[in-house]
Amino acid sequence: MDLLRRNRRLRQNPAIRALVRETSLTPDDFLTPLFVVEGKGIKEEIPSMPGYFRLSLDNLRKEATELWDLGLKAVLLFVKVPDALKDNTGKEALNPEGLMQRAIQTVKDACPQMLVMTDVALDPFSSYGHDGIAHRGQILNDATVEVLCAMSVSHAQAGADMVAPSDMMDGRILGIRQALDSEGFENTGIMSYSAKYASAFYGPFRDALDSAPSSSEDAPTDKKSYQMDPGNRREAFLETAADIEEGADIVMVKPGLCYLDIVRDLREAFDVPIAVYQVSGEYAMLKAAADRGWLDHDSVMLEQLTAIKRAGADLIASYFAKEVAGLLRG
Ligand code: PBG
Repeated sequence: MDLLRRNRRLRQNPAIRALVRETSLTPDDFLTPLFVVEGKGIKEEIPSMPGYFRLSLDNLRKEATELWDLGLKAVLLFVKVPDALKDNTGKEALNPEGLMQRAIQTVKDACPQMLVMTDVALDPFSSYGHDGIAHRGQILNDATVEVLCAMSVSHAQAGADMVAPSDMMDGRILGIRQALDSEGFENTGIMSYSAKYASAFYGPFRDALDSAPSSSEDAPTDKKSYQMDPGNRREAFLETAADIEEGADIVMVKPGLCYLDIVRDLREAFDVPIAVYQVSGEYAMLKAAADRGWLDHDSVMLEQLTAIKRAGADLIASYFAKEVAGLLRG
């Protein structure tokens, strides 16, 4: 054939493919989520997240060091709180000696340069498993924001570099920014979960933290009154624009794979860094299929993460972070 363009020329061998590859993963792309529990010597596997563990502080210290040695420079901390410490207002979240506060100090002590980000929402501390305060079947917005502000300041005091509000209350970024500034934490950043959808992919995470919303007279049975409807695209612009206006340093789309159109949209509309959270259900699906021999684990893992980055993510929170960093190291 008399073809002028032969696109296959640039696909002939690994060297030429590497040379023209547009998107590659590096450990710098990742945030590693970590689940922390009380106790000593604890490393318990989460049944719906094979290969992922809840760690007590001594093991958290070890894990942070291993991550740092693999080139992973940022962690996102979550805590599992005993039921006895949960209430409707999440007041344990503000305990200066609380598990989150000690977890922050533990990571900073083990790896002073590790970037420590913390989840800010009431759900692990809420007797109803909600991100905010429940009242007569509703989640109260403004009262919740007050707690989130105090929680953020408490994390900053314990040494967090950035707080990551995942609650989806209106106005919380502004509130948190002002609270941090008024306490002298103007250098503490905010990574906002700005387009967070009411997704069924969060199931394994709620197992990990025992934080599934429960039904009661006072509390709704799901998070649809604050997390976004999966059918909505324009709303993602509104949410993200508001968070940037209110002072978010990094914005986030969550979950990952099903929402890559939103990632691309926001990438084109805004210039702040965009994070994507590849969530627990996405991790669980691949682990389950690979376990049955139905998918090749490492290839699918890299393909999914590359797709997230190609869609426009600057950083990716992923339960695969450590495995990917290990693979990249070869
Ligand atoms: C809670 C929070 C959730 C996740 C991160 N922060 C769950 C939820 O909103 O119910 C989900 C993460 C995952 O599924 O991996 N505010």
